Amino acid sequence: MVVSAPTDYDWAKEVKEFEDTRAGVKGLVDSGATKIPKFFVHPPEKLHDQPVAVRAMPEMPEIDFTGVERGGMRRREVVEQIGRAAREWGFFRMVNHGVPVSTLDAMLAATKRFHEQPTEAKKELYSGDATQKVRFTSSGPTRCTDVACWRDILTCFHTDDTLDPELIPQVCRNEVQEYVKYMIKLRETMSELLSEALGLRSDYLSSIECLKSEALAMLYYPSCPEPNLTMGNAKHSDTTFLTVLLQDYTIGGLQILHQNQWVDVPPIHGTLIANIGDLMQMITNDKFKSVEHRVVAQPIGPRLSVACFFLPNSKRMAKPFGAIKELLSENESPIYREFLCHEYFDFYKNNYGLVTPALPHFKL
Ligand code: OGA
Ligand code: NI
Repeated sequence: MVVSAPTDYDWAKEVKEFEDTRAGVKGLVDSGATKIPKFFVHPPEKLHDQPVAVRAMPEMPEIDFTGVERGGMRRREVVEQIGRAAREWGFFRMVNHGVPVSTLDAMLAATKRFHEQPTEAKKELYSGDATQKVRFTSSGPTRCTDVACWRDILTCFHTDDTLDPELIPQVCRNEVQEYVKYMIKLRETMSELLSEALGLRSDYLSSIECLKSEALAMLYYPSCPEPNLTMGNAKHSDTTFLTVLLQDYTIGGLQILHQNQWVDVPPIHGTLIANIGDLMQMITNDKFKSVEHRVVAQPIGPRLSVACFFLPNSKRMAKPFGAIKELLSENESPIYREFLCHEYFDFYKNNYGLVTPALPHFKL
């Protein structure tokens, strides 16, 4: 259903006033707002879209990475588990993943520290320009048919695994650098395991360079005075190849769509969540699934999370991706046309507010 443009108030003015504060959603909460601005109000069919029931069971798969090193005792078992999870759920929880709990805790604390600085310290970084390597934003809508989500984001884009440390705010610099170092290490492991789970040689995904940059999103979901009217993060699938998510241990609110049911993904201290992105679904010819998920808005907060989105390196970004040839056969032809990553992102951006993913539009 198409959301009609609100006519009873000056939408553009309200958005502009919000954006001009450069203080994000947290700024609204700090100013004592008891009502949320209208551009945060999601249409009822998106808030309460079918299916409505959230059931606790079945639970998302949990995979223990112990013994997964090359030649390790459990490598084959874990490859099998990852393959099944990527095909059936598109999501899985990782334990004993090699990132120290102290590093995870420090990363969440740094995320909180950045967002809880006075506005003065953050507003320089407030920007809607997605080409900026480091930016603070709340993603205010740019069209009146779009709605905003109840959260602020600091993004640190590591192109080809690197980012000039000087660009990272000092309050979180060391933690971001340490965390990304471990994300790169974990990515190497996951890249091999996912390749093997597809029946390909271990270095296959590494060789096509699809996981060689990181967009690190440090998310802050303030408590919401009217949580039933908005979303922390609206239903979406990730437009990347792979995502590793760290959520705080107290609040929760992440839900994934599994077999047409919203399933809660409760936070568990020390664990990380992995999920397949749209671009991975396309190159694996639908073998791995990019699954829709959302974060509900809550009267308590702040909720913190850190999403590490893996993307190709800059060289590979310039070339088209297509279905992995080795996965095709006489009986299996490509489902999607070849695509440039930017083409996909642009399509998504220009259709922001779509309730369905952009993926079907790339079908042959
Ligand atoms: C995202 C996302 C989930 C979370 O940023 O794409 O799905 O728990 N985040 O913050
Ligand atoms: Ni997501």
